[in-house]
Amino acid sequence: MIKPLGLGVLGLGEGRSIISAGVHSPLWQVVCLCDTNAALAQERCAEFGLNRYTTDYAELLADPAVDVVGIYTPDHLHADHIIQALHAGKHVICTKPFIDDLSRANEVLAAQQRSGKHVMVGQSTRFFAPFIRQRQHYESGALGELVTIEASYSADHRWFLSKPWAKQPTFKWLYGGISHPADLIRWYLPDVCEVMGYAYLSSNGRAGGLVNPDTYHFVLKAASGKIARVTGVYSCPTVPEERDSPMTCILRCERGASQADYHELRYAWKIGEQAAIESFEAQRAYYFRFGGVSHHAGEYQNYIEYFARCLARGETPKPDAAEGIVTVALLQTMEESTITGHPVKLETVLNRHQLN
Ligand SMILES: NC(=O)c1ccc[n+]([C@@H]2O[C@H](COP(=O)([O-])OP(=O)(O)OC[C@H]3O[C@@H](n4cnc5c(N)ncnc54)[C@H](O)[C@@H]3O)[C@@H](O)[C@H]2O)c1
Repeated sequence: MIKPLGLGVLGLGEGRSIISAGVHSPLWQVVCLCDTNAALAQERCAEFGLNRYTTDYAELLADPAVDVVGIYTPDHLHADHIIQALHAGKHVICTKPFIDDLSRANEVLAAQQRSGKHVMVGQSTRFFAPFIRQRQHYESGALGELVTIEASYSADHRWFLSKPWAKQPTFKWLYGGISHPADLIRWYLPDVCEVMGYAYLSSNGRAGGLVNPDTYHFVLKAASGKIARVTGVYSCPTVPEERDSPMTCILRCERGASQADYHELRYAWKIGEQAAIESFEAQRAYYFRFGGVSHHAGEYQNYIEYFARCLARGETPKPDAAEGIVTVALLQTMEESTITGHPVKLETVLNRHQLN
């Protein structure tokens, strides 16, 4: 029997999902919540039958019962919050995007190494049923060698623009949204080394107050010569989900092809004459517990339980800080390509930030 890990949660918007994950998991105990918004913290305590909250992050970090801090604050605050947690001797689970620029990447890595604590990036899609199934199917060898991968995350996220930080120049859908499909690409093609792409700010996004692009198409190349594609569109209506999923990962391999779809809880594959469309619909209530499909409690429960099992076995939970930072570097490489209009090498960005 593993001793439950004590969880402190920072940022209680999407942080609601990790609270739900923690209170429903035998491997975790939710110890304390923290948000600068006291009324929200009280609301979350009442919702989950908890009694401890603070508006002061330092107080959460000083609590010896907190083993792990779950960080769900706005993207541009993650680096600071990760470093503070590590300095306080806590393990960290930080939502995506891990950080939103590379200027403090080395500081994050140094803090992690000095602390000897674990840092896991909450790349939630890896922990969602159809994507877990796709990974296992691929690893079984049944599909054969990967030829190419196409990942997309396109959703009408105009509702998100009601959050004040979404209209600041620091908020970029490239990091907030494309961190999902970019991570899926690196999961299958860790040697991605070059990117070209275009970005555009739609009139819908501009009208909503966005200042950075909301529409992206990229082509990526791996050192092996394999190529991949990433798409993200965030301020437009979408076609019916029967025809297109907001989040999709397609693997085209030597012997077969497969597609994992997000909200539809669907996995489809074809190998030779054999084909199937598998449904994980029975798990809908586990994955989506409140707020329609806008919260991610099931994925988070899967990743915090994976984190706890890794610690109990003395293993490093993945993606860790080093892997997460290369994914951020890939996002920055993508951004540079949209700005310069030319292909950009990942290595150029890593070298510039002394990350090689
Ligand atoms: N699939 C996923 O993994 C997923 C889904 C949604 C959001 N997210 C991520 O979660 C993070 C938060 O997004 P959100 O939608 O919950 O935003 P939000 O604005 O709804 O919530 C952020 C919360 O952080 C609090 N906060 C801000 N600064 C703080 C500080 N210094 N100390 C304590 N609390 C502070 C705010 O009061 C707010 O309640 C983002 O990084 C986002 O990308 C991840």
